[in-house]
Amino acid sequence: MGVRTILHYPDPRLREAGKRIEKMTPELQSLIEDMAETMYAAPGVGLAATQIGELLQLFIIDIASDDEPSDLRVFINPEIIEATGTITWEEGCLSFPGVTEEITRSGQLKVRALDRGFKPFELEAEGLLAVAVQHEYDHLQGKLMIDHVGPLKKRIINRKMQKRAEAEL
Ligand code: NI
Repeated sequence: MGVRTILHYPDPRLREAGKRIEKMTPELQSLIEDMAETMYAAPGVGLAATQIGELLQLFIIDIASDDEPSDLRVFINPEIIEATGTITWEEGCLSFPGVTEEITRSGQLKVRALDRGFKPFELEAEGLLAVAVQHEYDHLQGKLMIDHVGPLKKRIINRKMQKRAEAEL
């Protein structure tokens, strides 16, 4: 299928949680391919399945910079098993085009997930990787970056995204 359409806030489907994935299938492999194509085309550093309307516990991340080889990481049924410290990062989201906000999250994480071969792995993350994992993990629970900002900023983002949605109709 290739590049998929990324849902934009306030699309209500972004509020739905992903379901646990029971087994690897050819359909799931091609979904992962599509997600990677979609993320690189955007371009973005992470994409959750729920952002393209697939309600599954699956996200991908690639935080390699432009001059580095790509470093695609696939997380299936992810769990954050440890979270300590704090980090504040200027975040963006492919579902909120044109919006960036400083968000404070845990600074160090331990994550457990399955890779695209359906093999379990554990990962310790800090810096941008820790930020990206928490951001994408949120998506799988129907939680969005706007839920991390104060009421005034929330109103500004809401208005901006509403206007954009009206312009897209
Ligand atoms: Ni996002």
